[in-house]
Amino acid sequence: MNLILFGAPGAGKGTQSALLVENFDMRHISTGDLFRKNMKDKTELSKKAKFYIDAGNLVPDGIVIKMVEDALDQLGGQEFILDGFPRTLEQAKALDEMLERKKLKIGKVVSLEVPQAVLVSRLTGRRVCKGCGAVYHISAKQPKVEGVCDVCNAVVAQRKDDSEEVAVNRLNVYKKSTQPVKDYYMSFERLEQLDGTGSTSEVFERIQNLLKN
Ligand code: AP5
Repeated sequence: MNLILFGAPGAGKGTQSALLVENFDMRHISTGDLFRKNMKDKTELSKKAKFYIDAGNLVPDGIVIKMVEDALDQLGGQEFILDGFPRTLEQAKALDEMLERKKLKIGKVVSLEVPQAVLVSRLTGRRVCKGCGAVYHISAKQPKVEGVCDVCNAVVAQRKDDSEEVAVNRLNVYKKSTQPVKDYYMSFERLEQLDGTGSTSEVFERIQNLLKN
């Protein structure tokens, strides 16, 4: 089943997507990860996007929509999770058109609900591997050796957009631009809201139960 995993910055979309990929044969399409890969490789696309990402604002719709369309074209029939897309009404409508053209269907739109105070502490406490992108947290999920990735031994550091100032802006942008997308899916009775608090495995269990129904 293809999924849209929805939720504010820090809601746990990347963490839960990694568990879904590990336990089911699914492809993770994260627009944030795609942008970060482009920035690491210093591509032309990254030159257009970096300014927005560093400030915690949304990258213009045209750039994101084209990037997602390219990712969907590379699936080769594999089931997928969309993480971080769509984030505006224009993106949601473009996605519907894309899916129709490509004869693909979304089985569930799941929204991870987490209170604002928890989101801020998850974002500012997050640390990410500069090599493989594995995600850690200063209290909830520490690497075995401080500052070193368990998976690939590369350096683990804070994302530039996880500073408190930028993180709070991202949460404000989410409320303003992404709440209408939630309303859009709710209007089709397609949005399933799920408690995103508690441990990572508790949230994953909730997602698995939802997928069974
Ligand atoms: P993106 O990378 O998508 O950022 P985001 O939506 O802000 O989401 P995050 O990656 O911050 O959070 P997450 O929900 O994945 O949380 P995670 O699992 O890591 O986007 C970055 C930027 O790219 C945007 O600001 C924008 O500029 C641009 N962009 C991307 N998509 C775009 C689009 N569609 N349109 C326009 N621009 C776009 O968890 C966070 C932390 O919490 C981790 O440390 C984790 O270990 C911890 N944690 C997770 N779950 C739990 C738990 N249950 N208990 C305790 N700790 C937990």
